[in-house]
Amino acid sequence: MNILIATSEAVPLAKTGGLADVCGALPKALAALGHNVALILPAYRCTKRFPSEPTNVTFSVNIRGTEFLGTYRKCTIPEIGVPVYLVEHDWFYDRDGLYNEKNQDYGDNCERFVFFSYAVMEAIRTLQLPVDILHVNDWQTGLIPALLALKYRDQPGYECISSLLTIHNIAYQGSFPASAMSATGLHWKYFNWLQMEFYDRLNLLKTGLVFADGLTTVSPQYANEIKWSSGFGLESVLRNRADVLWGVTNGIDTDEWNPETDPLIPQNYTVRNFVSGKRACKMALQEEFGLDVRADVPMVGMIGRLTEQKGFDLAIELMYRKLAEEDDIQWVLLGTGDPQLEKQLRELAEKYPNRVAAKLQYSNAMSHRIIAASDLFLMPSRFEPCGLTQMYSMRYGTIPVAHATGGLIDTITDMNDVNLENQTATGVLFQNMDIDGIRWGVEHALGNLRFNTIGWRRVVRAAMRRNFSWQLSAEKYVEIYEKIRRKYPRA
Ligand code: ADP
Ligand code: GLC
Repeated sequence: MNILIATSEAVPLAKTGGLADVCGALPKALAALGHNVALILPAYRCTKRFPSEPTNVTFSVNIRGTEFLGTYRKCTIPEIGVPVYLVEHDWFYDRDGLYNEKNQDYGDNCERFVFFSYAVMEAIRTLQLPVDILHVNDWQTGLIPALLALKYRDQPGYECISSLLTIHNIAYQGSFPASAMSATGLHWKYFNWLQMEFYDRLNLLKTGLVFADGLTTVSPQYANEIKWSSGFGLESVLRNRADVLWGVTNGIDTDEWNPETDPLIPQNYTVRNFVSGKRACKMALQEEFGLDVRADVPMVGMIGRLTEQKGFDLAIELMYRKLAEEDDIQWVLLGTGDPQLEKQLRELAEKYPNRVAAKLQYSNAMSHRIIAASDLFLMPSRFEPCGLTQMYSMRYGTIPVAHATGGLIDTITDMNDVNLENQTATGVLFQNMDIDGIRWGVEHALGNLRFNTIGWRRVVRAAMRRNFSWQLSAEKYVEIYEKIRRKYPRA
């Protein structure tokens, strides 16, 4: 099959969150199954560090009467392993951020991603890309299925293309004032409650949900949740399309996230020598962060975007309580985002410098070191479509303590009596998203870590042995591609 993946992020080129990890790894996994895959994304400033060649192919997009000219660059990124096309338009993309700067969204995000959506459609013709499946991701590419269905379907080369939209996070919908409809180049008749409009605004994610031939989201549990309660208003749209909505759990890049070979951690280890390996990693991190250097003290790690979704507010409340109660825990946090949360974390670390380290920055290398060093990894997400960091943690023998929601349910086997007994437990899932819930989760894990050493080591081994590789997920995507393709078969 010929698959073109359109995305607004992919590692190592551009990243703000897990979308980038997924779009950087899935192409390679699909190619390994024998498919012909290409990737296309905007040529942001951060992509310019990578070598690329001009294609000399230009195109133009008319947005509200103005012609915007663009071109494509092509690059080969060994980690991605398939051809990557970068849509170049410096006015739109040569900026410090991907979507925002200093927590402020760019005012022309609608135009930036309308332009990108047309650029993807034009690439198929002008670069002569063979495409059976056009796989798009999140709101930034939500217009693409509509362009295919309403503008391009009858044109030569587009007749047999099917579109798949993957929802990585339904909380972000690309919602713009109604007047933005005129930027899409589509007729105003589509601005209605069954298609592109949502409460008097243009909604690009909804547009994709309505017009795509198939829909997926990043775990089966989340696929179910968003139809009923966690759909941020789009529940009924999804129920209408339930026959073509599937959940496929993300994989992880098991080469990058491998404690046995990871060059970013101070000591490598395996499932056989994790006790000494993790101890060395912990002491090195304590030293680095100015914490008390003591191998015996439990370390709790937390990494993520500082947003409402990730529950850092609840973690902060828990930390204040636990820090006042006992000396014997260290907390290590890494994240950027909400200035209010940044301030609270900074204050906490200043108050307890020997026991709390809060790094308010984006650092991939540091995230590896924290995951390797910690005993527990805290994920009190209010909702979590899939989540990757809990899988990274398990692979490093770091036991996740997570709210029982979305993909966290699908990827973590709870440390209840039955699962402890049959040696399948890999983490702790707490049910209540409040201070009692999170507290119970952390205490439950700490209790086992401190007083049930044999049981704990079994949990660590089970976690490290879990197979989160992309191959299984890629096979599921292929099955879905086959299903949606039947709608537009080749002659
Ligand atoms: P989301 O996509 O909702 O942010 P995921 O768990 O799917 O959540 O993916 C988050 C990704 O971003 C992971 O690869 C995680 O390690 C990374 N990440 C988030 N914040 C930081 C940070 N401050 N420094 C380094 N990596 C980070
Ligand atoms: C989103 C979700 C996260 C998921 C990631 C990759 O950003 O918040 O749960 O793992 O996309 O699909």
